[in-house]
Formats: sequence, C-alpha cells, structure tokens
Amino acid sequence: MAKYKIAWLPGDGIGIEVLEATEIILDKLGFDAELIHGDIGWEFWCKEGDPLPQRTIDLLKNVDAAMFGAITSKPAKEAVNELDPALRDKGFSYRSPIVRMRQTFELYNCMRPTKGYPGNPLNHKEGIDIVVFRENTEDLYAGVEYAKVPLEVRQVLSSTAPAFARFKDVSDDDLAISCKINTRQGCEKIIRAAFDFAKKFNRKKVTVVHKANVVRATDGLFLETGKAIAKEYPGIELDDANIDAMCMWLLKNPHNYDVLVAPNLYGDIVSDLCAQMVGGLGFACSGNIGNDLAVFEPTHGSAPKYAGQYKVNPIATLLAAKMMLDWLGETEMGRKLEASVASVIKEGKVKTYDMGGSVKTLDMARAIAEKL
Ligand code: NAI
Ligand code: MG
Repeated sequence: MAKYKIAWLPGDGIGIEVLEATEIILDKLGFDAELIHGDIGWEFWCKEGDPLPQRTIDLLKNVDAAMFGAITSKPAKEAVNELDPALRDKGFSYRSPIVRMRQTFELYNCMRPTKGYPGNPLNHKEGIDIVVFRENTEDLYAGVEYAKVPLEVRQVLSSTAPAFARFKDVSDDDLAISCKINTRQGCEKIIRAAFDFAKKFNRKKVTVVHKANVVRATDGLFLETGKAIAKEYPGIELDDANIDAMCMWLLKNPHNYDVLVAPNLYGDIVSDLCAQMVGGLGFACSGNIGNDLAVFEPTHGSAPKYAGQYKVNPIATLLAAKMMLDWLGETEMGRKLEASVASVIKEGKVKTYDMGGSVKTLDMARAIAEKL
C-alpha cells in the first residue's frame, strides 16, 4: 500500500495540463502515493448541476491531501444558461466549487509564498521573499448576499444602521448587498497561522493588512486581534498597513515586507500583486490549509485561451506540490523540488512562453525532473 492517498483534481482547461506536469515530477521524486482522480469543474456543473459533486467531497474526506489544477467559473446567470437543458428551471444555482471546498473543509488558511528566484528575468526586483496568509472562509466571501434585498433586511438595516438612511428610497431592483462577515475566531486562526510560521522559520515581521479606519467593524476586529496575538510572539515585529497604501509600498519597497496577513478579499488582491512581482501567475502557488485537510493549487485559473496547447508554465503548480510535500512532512523532497525549479530558472535556458521562451508545459517539467 502506498504511504499517502492524494486526491487529484485536475478540473478544467490548463488545470489538466499543469497536473500532468506535476505527475512527472512526483514520479521522479519517488513520492510514494496513490493519486486518486476526483471530478470538479465546469463539465460537472453543465452535466449534473454541481461543479463539486458529493462523490468528490467524500473522496476529500478520505485522503491525506489534495492537488487541484483550476476550474472555469462563470457568473450565475450565464452559468444557468449552459446547464444541460434537462436541468434548467430546476432551481440549480451556480456557486464557486473552490469557495465551497474551502468552507466545507474549513480550509481557513490560504498560504501564498511569493519568492523571486534568482535570475528570473520577470522579477520586479531581486531578492523578494514575501509570504501572504489570506483568511480563506469568511469576509466578503462568506456568500451572504442579496441581489434583491428582502423587505425584512431593509427594515432591520433602517432601524439599526443610521447610514442606511441614504439608501432607503432606492428600489429593490437597484439595490444589492454583499455582507462582509468576520469572526474573532476566524481572525485569530489566520493571524496565529502567520505568527506561527514567522516563529518557525525565523521571520522578523508580520504586517497586518486592513482598512480599519473606514471599514471599522470587521477590519477593526481583524486589527485588534492582530495586536492581541502579537503579544504572544515577543521576538516578532508587528506592523500594520491599510490595503491601499500597502499596495503602493509593496511595489516601491518590497524588501521591507516579510509575512503579510489579511482578511479574505485584501489577501486575494495583495497576493496577486506579490505574484506579479516575482514573475506572474506562472509562479504563484497556494495552499488551502485546514486542521484536517489541505488542498494545494496554482493561484491561476483555467486560462481558456491557452487550454489544450500545453504551453503554460507549470512552475506555479510544481511549487504548490512542494508546499504539499512540506505539509506532509516530506521536507527533503520539497527542498529538492524547489532547488530544481530554482536551478532551471537560474540557468535561463528552458523557458515557457511567459518567460520569453517557447518550451512546452511537459518539457519544462521534464527539464526540472532532470535536475532532481
Ligand atoms: P487565469 O488565471 O485563468 O488566466 C489569466 C491569464 O494569466 C492567462 O490568460 C495567461 O495569460 C496567464 N496565465 C495563467 N496561468 C498561467 C500559467 N500557468 N503560465 C503562464 N501564464 C499563465 O484567469 P482568467 O482568464 O481571468 O480566468 C479563466 C477562468 O479561470 C475563469 O473561468 C475564472 O473564473 C477561472 N479561475 C479559476 C481559478 C481557480 O481555479 N483557482 C482562479 C482564477 C480564475
Ligand atoms: Mg485570485
């Protein structure tokens, strides 16, 4: 029997290609695992009305970890039009399977390391090494939204939130509300994950990202929790910044930043900015980590315009596989994988299109495998 069971979720478009590349590397590393295919993505929405079928949820309950490629998503109205005609008008409504997977398994920690590997011509500056911790289950992604606001909600808002008076005459059709919901426990878990990481890997500073001066309730809670938890980690400097200023300073002085921790939406935004500073989506990896399960993926989506061409960069997904190996405790394999990626980047001979070359996805993986 293999040592590990890994759910293998290619999804749509280039998700399939980058996971194929990852298999080449894990094989060469001698990673002792059974990779068990799981269905996820657009095809299953269209055919079954569910992009994350129950059988995939059941699979995820019985594995050590999961590797996920990417899926295609579309706005809810468009999605319903693409359902199998037999399923239309049956009340199916589209919701992102990724957000659902994160919430179902309480994968509260979205960890996104962004390291500029030496010699990558796409680096904004050399020597960037920032790890973003993004809260992954709450905030504006809580899913509590009204495209049409019910009367009861309007009444409660009118009587409890004075600022709502400005909207009281807006018609139902012209009003939409998305709730930003944060809990103290949710803030604590992600902030603690960031500080624990800083402590374990001898990082000097944790920056709490927020907009607490304007978004006072939720971001106020996030910042207050950050300040409280920081006291438990005396050797680590606590820093905080508004999300807008943060984006500006990150671009100007990326070396001033070390570990960032942010609520869900700001974390999503700031991690894409960090990704672009170290080469773009072809280099950006992500771990969705909970207490019992972790799902690793590239940050990018299914890139429909390149699907089927086997030309995208697999490095983002290979770095996600390195995160998985580390999480499973296979740190020596993780170290070797990262060193091989770094070595191919530094040599600068094998390059996918985004790096200014024309090497294909699987050939990039083979070049990296050769260095292992
Ligand atoms: P995307 O991330 O799929 O691609 C945007 C662009 O980034 C591509 O056209 C390409 O130029 C570049 N790119 C992405 N991955 C790359 C790689 N490995 N190597 C080199 N270049 C790469 O985002 P887009 O086009 O906005 O969305 C496409 C679909 O993916 C949508 O349906 C969207 O909802 C979905 N999506 C899914 C995600 C996921 O599965 N985690 C995340 C983001 C988007
Ligand atoms: Mg994103």
